[in-house]
Amino acid sequence: MDLIKEINKLKKEKNAIILTHCYQNVEIDEVSDFVGDSLYLSKMASNTNADIIVFAGVYFMAQSAKLLSPNKKVLLPEMNSGCAMADMIDVENLKLFKEKNPNIPVVCYINSTAEIKANCDICCTSSNAIDVVKSLNAPKVLFVPDTYLGKYVQTKLNNVEVITFNGFCPTHLRIRVDEISNARKNYPNAPILIHPECHHDVVKLADFVGSTKEIMEFAKKSDKKQFIIATEKGVVDRLNRDSKNLGWGKEFILIDENIICPSMKMNSLEKIYDTLLNEKNEITIADDVLLSAQKCIKKMLDLNV
Ligand code: 13P
Ligand code: SF4
Repeated sequence: MDLIKEINKLKKEKNAIILTHCYQNVEIDEVSDFVGDSLYLSKMASNTNADIIVFAGVYFMAQSAKLLSPNKKVLLPEMNSGCAMADMIDVENLKLFKEKNPNIPVVCYINSTAEIKANCDICCTSSNAIDVVKSLNAPKVLFVPDTYLGKYVQTKLNNVEVITFNGFCPTHLRIRVDEISNARKNYPNAPILIHPECHHDVVKLADFVGSTKEIMEFAKKSDKKQFIIATEKGVVDRLNRDSKNLGWGKEFILIDENIICPSMKMNSLEKIYDTLLNEKNEITIADDVLLSAQKCIKKMLDLNV
């Protein structure tokens, strides 16, 4: 069976779209309507006229799509694809964190469950975290769950104290300072592009820091020919594919071949086909959680940053 053809046929029959994060296996792009980072995909989820959204990403991303399109059917091909960082905080320890730091607005990274979003003031993604924190005009801000994105925001803002929860992304934390120094030695002309989920000592060494989509845009526009990429492998696979197909003559080198998010890679064309055919693995969110979490994420989108 030609899975790509069959999935595209099913999409038409069912008025469905497929939203794909750029850490997914690259062949999934062949059936995708939109491919990008968390912010871009959230915007696409809130604007669509489709009846069904299949989310090729991890659990919190599908939940966010449901928050933004509560009347649509949102399907996740692999229900076990959680985000290790999002799972590091639960409502109980969020409450303790807030009690320890009372009367301070809480910003939550989109890499969090709907239950966490329901208990925070505003959401952000890696591409707009600085602007979201700034928009609060507060002397102190709590930032959950990613301590490293929070610390990165702090380096960009002088007038606010960013107090971070201690979550992290195990995939991005694998990237070490010595790997960056070696890459500099081996590829002296290649800019090093780094995701802000990396350790702050690694982020400090970057030529460019950005979300997955920002990294891809920077690389496309740059007149350099070689690039070191310090984020998940899917970004490098897509950049090298586009360079080959579109004749950019550029080479993208993954800082370390183990920078692979296991949850993102659980998905496959077979699972997408099965999910869409049988309309299974539907995301549901309890009404009380949905309304508060929706407010949190919509506040971010309303800022338009
Ligand atoms: P982006 O906001 O860059 O899409 O990142 C999401 C993510 O999970 C990174 O690990
Ligand atoms: Fe979560 Fe890290 Fe995977 Fe992103 S790369 S989905 S933060 S575990």
